[in-house]
Amino acid sequence: MSEKMLVITGGSRGIGRAAIARFQAEGFSVINLSRTPIGLAGVAQITVDMSDANWAIQGAGKLHDAVVKRMPSGQGRIVVVHNAGLLEKDSVCTVAAESFAKVMQVNVIAPAQLNQILLPIMTPGSAIVYVGSTLSEKAVANSCSYVTSKHALVGLMRATCQDLVGSGIHTNCVCPGFTDTEMLRAHVGGDQAVLDSIASGVTFNRLIQPQEMADAIYVAATQAVFNGAVMHANLGQIER
Ligand SMILES: NC(=O)c1ccc[n+]([C@@H]2O[C@H](COP(=O)([O-])OP(=O)(O)OC[C@H]3O[C@@H](n4cnc5c(N)ncnc54)[C@H](OP(=O)(O)O)[C@@H]3O)[C@@H](O)[C@H]2O)c1
Repeated sequence: MSEKMLVITGGSRGIGRAAIARFQAEGFSVINLSRTPIGLAGVAQITVDMSDANWAIQGAGKLHDAVVKRMPSGQGRIVVVHNAGLLEKDSVCTVAAESFAKVMQVNVIAPAQLNQILLPIMTPGSAIVYVGSTLSEKAVANSCSYVTSKHALVGLMRATCQDLVGSGIHTNCVCPGFTDTEMLRAHVGGDQAVLDSIASGVTFNRLIQPQEMADAIYVAATQAVFNGAVMHANLGQIER
């Protein structure tokens, strides 16, 4: 039994999956929450759809049981990584309320719900890492709900930092730049020319690999000197 545990959302692919590998290599046991079962050795799966606010009603009991099974002492460190994300193309001129609410539920409310399930059993040395975006602090056109939600996530992280004063739990928001995952590829319709154009806006002229984001998340989770920080991890974006 490990005394270090990662509870991550959206570990079924992309950045989340890479983060799981990174934490497993450091001896963490892992619990993943996503809609698609991860099917990875050593990872406990809780299959939930976080776009439904009621996910927490069924999910809380299962999550508690999974944590207790892997950490019976109740004394270990828990790292929570709020990584699951939903990106829709929409505009402030036309975004529908229902669609807006769904993005806010997955990207902002669900992390707050998960915190409330886990905080009572989190000990000093634990950490809460939010996965934001470059769009946590700037905006682009046609991503209204996503931009709004990722800005809100920074607010949630800062509120977390203030509300947990004295707890020994630290928190950060890691903000990825363009990372080569299904989310990015789907967003550009799988168009390689668009991906190349995106890469040309990065100082290293390439996309970030999910493993690089996993390293950044690991630092944010394990180095408490970073607390309340917005940590951009984007390889340097060329200012236009
Ligand atoms: N890739 C980029 O360029 C980039 C840039 C900036 C920020 N980010 C952020 O990084 C994080 C990870 O992104 P990624 O690129 O790795 O995305 P991805 O490949 O699309 O993976 C997203 C993950 O979120 C989970 N998820 C989505 N909706 C969910 C729901 N309703 N309930 C539960 N889980 C759900 C998915 O699992 P299931 O489908 O199995 O449920 C999947 O594991 C996101 O927060 C994203 O906003 C990514």
